[in-house]
Amino acid sequence: MRTLIFATNNQHKIDEIKKVIGEQFNIITLQEAGINIDIPEPHDTLEANATEKSTTIYSITKLDCFSEDTGLEVEALNGEPGVRSARYAGDGKNFQANIDLLLNNLENRTNRKARFRTVISLLMDGKEFFFEGICEGEIIQQQSGNKGFGYDPVFIPLGSSKTFAEMSMDEKNVFSHRRKATDLLLQFLAEIK
Ligand code: IMP
Repeated sequence: MRTLIFATNNQHKIDEIKKVIGEQFNIITLQEAGINIDIPEPHDTLEANATEKSTTIYSITKLDCFSEDTGLEVEALNGEPGVRSARYAGDGKNFQANIDLLLNNLENRTNRKARFRTVISLLMDGKEFFFEGICEGEIIQQQSGNKGFGYDPVFIPLGSSKTFAEMSMDEKNVFSHRRKATDLLLQFLAEIK
């Protein structure tokens, strides 16, 4: 079984991706690889941040690895918070403060359209490959649900009446941006096997 390092410290992302990919590949987290660093996300695109994370880990381990960067892009806010999703309300990366600011900025807006976009950067034998997953949906007026993370309590994906935070992980994975990007990664890995 091929081993891949997943360059993240976010346990929710690890759980979600392991559910999709875990049977076919041996996914090792940074913690399991004994790497204890907080990789910076200094760039202004999801692609550049994903590259930063995967190249940082590849340069340390020289092992095949992938990373992902995700942003919530809200139409009425010209695509904000986008690449700044984690730090929308400040450097504390506080999920609740980010939600509060988002709902505040959308007050009285009728256009609630939003999408999550995930970019995966895979570094394999030193070459980089990108995979993208998008989940369209809308931001509701008041948060609901306590599962998941980040903006999950205010996001309803197209085709559902529940927020991501009201769904089990399996339900979220039916719709999710991260699952779609991971499917493309899996397809790619299956083709080159
Ligand atoms: P990151 O930079 O890829 O770690 O993610 C940026 C921010 O986007 C996170 O801190 C979360 O607030 C948010 N985010 C990423 N993925 C999701 C998701 O699946 N659901 C809800 N929020 C998410």
